[in-house]
Amino acid sequence: MDIRPLLLLVAACESVVAYTVDQDYGGVPLWINRLLGEPSVLSLRGRLDPRWLRAVNTQSCPLECECPIQWPTAIYCDSRSLVQMPSGLPSRTQYLFLQGNGITGFAPEAFANATRLRWLFLDRNQLLRLDGGLLSNLTYLVHIFMNHNNLTEVPAGLPSGLRQLRLAYNNIEKISPGAFQNLHNLTLLLLQGNRFKTIGENSFQGLLALKMLDLSHNFLKTFPRHLPSAVEQLYLSNNSLAGMERDSLQGFSNLRYLRLGHNQLQDNGMDPGAFNLTSLVELDLSYNHLTQIPVVTTSLRYLYLEANLIHKFTVSSFCRTVGPDSYSRIRILRLEGNKIAAHQLPTDWVMCLRVLHQIFI
Ligand SMILES: *[C@@H]1O[C@H](CO)[C@@H](O)[C@H](O)[C@H]1NC(C)=O
Ligand SMILES: *[C@@H]1O[C@H](CO)[C@@H](O)[C@H](O)[C@H]1NC(C)=O
Ligand SMILES: *[C@@H]1O[C@H](CO)[C@@H](O)[C@H](O)[C@H]1NC(C)=O
Ligand SMILES: *[C@@H]1O[C@H](CO)[C@@H](O)[C@H](O)[C@H]1NC(C)=O
Ligand SMILES: *[C@@H]1O[C@H](CO)[C@@H](O)[C@H](O)[C@H]1NC(C)=O
Ligand SMILES: *[C@@H]1O[C@H](CO)[C@@H](O)[C@H](O)[C@H]1NC(C)=O
Repeated sequence: MDIRPLLLLVAACESVVAYTVDQDYGGVPLWINRLLGEPSVLSLRGRLDPRWLRAVNTQSCPLECECPIQWPTAIYCDSRSLVQMPSGLPSRTQYLFLQGNGITGFAPEAFANATRLRWLFLDRNQLLRLDGGLLSNLTYLVHIFMNHNNLTEVPAGLPSGLRQLRLAYNNIEKISPGAFQNLHNLTLLLLQGNRFKTIGENSFQGLLALKMLDLSHNFLKTFPRHLPSAVEQLYLSNNSLAGMERDSLQGFSNLRYLRLGHNQLQDNGMDPGAFNLTSLVELDLSYNHLTQIPVVTTSLRYLYLEANLIHKFTVSSFCRTVGPDSYSRIRILRLEGNKIAAHQLPTDWVMCLRVLHQIFI
């Protein structure tokens, strides 16, 4: 059983107040603030007859789109083979759904009237380029969804109030220096499924509030330097990382979730002090080539090491000393798919791993 979705659910339930989690949309669940009147991704689409709506809805609506009466600020133009932006976008538009079309680009004034736009959905189009300057005047714009397009670079000049930017599964190879310079409020940046081989020194400059960075599924061979150090969640799974240096994570004092599964990590590339970070809660090292359990801090709670080449259970990886207060806080340990069996566990391991909840071996 994979326990990770379960953990996520538990974490989500704790903070539900006026929020509801929508479907998983672009890597992380979408938080809908019903009090603010935010519509869901799917919400009313397809449930009402657009002809009826058009007859009773007195508000203007682009011909190609649907405008639900219940959410006058939402315009649904998704999944209808559009190759360009519908004209006559009403100025009341705050949520614009354009995903699943064939749009390759925008006219320079395409968003000129959409001054109140808050969320822009452009997933699954064929955007080749986007001049972020088109959007730079949109001071209310907080979420942009551009996953699964054909972008080769990060749009420059995006509006500075942006909080979430999703650019997963494009063809982006590099980030021009300063592309994120003004995005001081950005908390989520998805870049998985692109073509990064390296990360430039100034690429992420300006991302002072970034909490979640996903760079999984790229072509990174070495652990990138110059990542935004405020991040709490850093995902680098499915790259070609061979090792970690002692200072790879230096300065990342807020880092809680680190995912490095499906890489090429080997013992000789791993500095023993690489994971010496007390903020770390979850560490995923599954599907690598490790033969030893790396040294982790006693504060770590979830360690995933399945599908490696580990042949020995070293208690010292978890505990340097064992005493009333010195023990490992590991709750879940995954070791299945290694070269180790349950009967090979040393007798003293329970003293160290005394709050262990589940072990997979
Ligand atoms: C913006 O609004 C003005 C005035 O309503 C209109 O003339 C113009 O065509 C609109 N532009 C776009 C791109 O929709
Ligand atoms: C942004 O606003 C400035 C100043 O009002 C204006 O000159 C410029 O044309 C606007 N840009 C866009 C893309 O609408
Ligand atoms: C975008 O990429 C898809 C898949 O790689 C491809 O089929 C499509 O032709 C591309 N579109 C453009 C406009 O290049
Ligand atoms: C950034 O967020 C702060 C706090 O929510 C807000 O006061 C500020 O206006 C935002 N900055 C921009 C450029 O929108
Ligand atoms: C990583 O790659 C493996 C094997 O190709 C695949 O099964 C897995 O879904 C990928 N994970 C992510 C997060 O892309
Ligand atoms: C881990 O870091 C602490 C301080 O942050 C230091 O005292 C300790 O020696 C380090 N341990 C290793 C194994 O690098």
